[in-house]
Amino acid sequence: MRFLQATVISRQYAIIKGLAYPRNYATLAEPSAPAVKTRNIPGPKSLELKNKLSAIQNAETIQLFVDYEKSIGNYLVDVDGNVLLDVFTQISSVPLGYNHPRLLNVFQNENNLKTLINRPALGVFPGKEWPDCLYTILNKIAPTGLSNLTTMMCGSCSNENAYKNIFIWYRRNQRGENVDFNEVELQSCMINQPPGAPQLSILSFHGAFHGRTLAALATTHSKYIHKIDIPSFDWPIASFPKYQYPLAENERHNKSEDQRCLVEVEELIEKYNKKGIPVAGIVVEPIQSEGGDNEASPEFFQGLQKIGKQRGVALLIDEVQTGGGSTGKIWCHEYFNLNGPPDVVTFSKKLQLGGYFHKEEFKPKQGYRVFNTWMGDPGKLLLLQEIINVIQEENLLKNVNKAGKVLKDGLLALEKEYSHLLNSTRGRGTFLAVNCQNSKARDDLVGRLKLKGIQTGGCGELSIRFRPALTFQEKHANIVLDGFRSVLKEL
Ligand SMILES: Cc1ncc(COP(=O)(O)O)c(C=O)c1O
Repeated sequence: MRFLQATVISRQYAIIKGLAYPRNYATLAEPSAPAVKTRNIPGPKSLELKNKLSAIQNAETIQLFVDYEKSIGNYLVDVDGNVLLDVFTQISSVPLGYNHPRLLNVFQNENNLKTLINRPALGVFPGKEWPDCLYTILNKIAPTGLSNLTTMMCGSCSNENAYKNIFIWYRRNQRGENVDFNEVELQSCMINQPPGAPQLSILSFHGAFHGRTLAALATTHSKYIHKIDIPSFDWPIASFPKYQYPLAENERHNKSEDQRCLVEVEELIEKYNKKGIPVAGIVVEPIQSEGGDNEASPEFFQGLQKIGKQRGVALLIDEVQTGGGSTGKIWCHEYFNLNGPPDVVTFSKKLQLGGYFHKEEFKPKQGYRVFNTWMGDPGKLLLLQEIINVIQEENLLKNVNKAGKVLKDGLLALEKEYSHLLNSTRGRGTFLAVNCQNSKARDDLVGRLKLKGIQTGGCGELSIRFRPALTFQEKHANIVLDGFRSVLKEL
């Protein structure tokens, strides 16, 4: 399974291991099924490596060690030779599966290789191609109406810096468009005191995950282990709707949940304004992912946007996990039929580099206010360019919807048959989840699925989440469902 020599020779064919394959080869060289070789996963070789790593760092979270040379398409191969159908894809961050020939090909080109090697400090010495790259690559997938773009490194630092853009915007609105900073502000900001370092806040939701840097962590509320011992801000936290499933049978309850949470948002904005910590922005995931794949309706998001507009509070939609195609659209918020674009949309994961699209008015007027050494990575942007090409040429969003429907329908059928074990199947495209009875049962199911060769992931307290690559097809969905059924039969 060494595909490093893959070469594209025309629009129709590629040479892999000396053989010509049709262009739509994303899954061609994959194994036909998972194969588990060890009694337990992690197997002995993974455990040995884990022990080695443990000597120098905490390796508790490591599930297994991967052989990235052998992993291919939708299949991840571990160091013990276990071949797993990967529907978790590195916490939802692999768009085209492993070792996609089109991506391997990107760095066969010497110019591209130089872009990879000569990594610039983008804020000061970008390469001559950089503006065109941003215009032609990232702007191609920009959410409608968001003309400005800041590139970053990861999801957390995208949110962290986007919050800064929001605070800068908010203070400019308070101060007046062309009013300069005064001397008191300049002095006080240096010792973290108002008015230069003002008391402002970002409103977030219980169950949210926006990252682990300090401000992002202040808006993260999914698990105590991320937050304990870390100083944080007194920022408002509203309830996120808790829906009952199936949606069609629980419309009344779910609508009242939307209403309850929107009222709470308004009350909290009021309360924090009175408290002297005004709310400058609202941050929200289109589907709360780490927190348990909690969904909310388009009406809820429309309501949030309306509240923000009425009160001069920015709306940031965090698409770090949902962005990139797995919901069946590049941006999940496209489903929400908003009244104009949100103010800021953050991304990372499947898009390879982090960053955010935003409205012109959120661009700081002075340099260095939002800045770091790398500010993204042109090498990753070259990969993203090819990923976007493949998504478009191979109609992968359609594929996601097709394969997602098979998986979702199958999960719904299993849920009916095994209603004492599973419930609340939900999601869009292949961005799906199902709930178990309790955390222990969920963890047990995830473990058993792995021993059947299916790598899934947990989220929240009760959920199993599905985050396959965009190249995941109906045949893969059927393998997952067969594995699921045989595990359920064991219980
Ligand atoms: C919605 C969301 N925002 C932000 C982040 C943080 O991204 P990163 O882990 O790249 O810092 C994540 C990570 O899972 C996420 O799911």
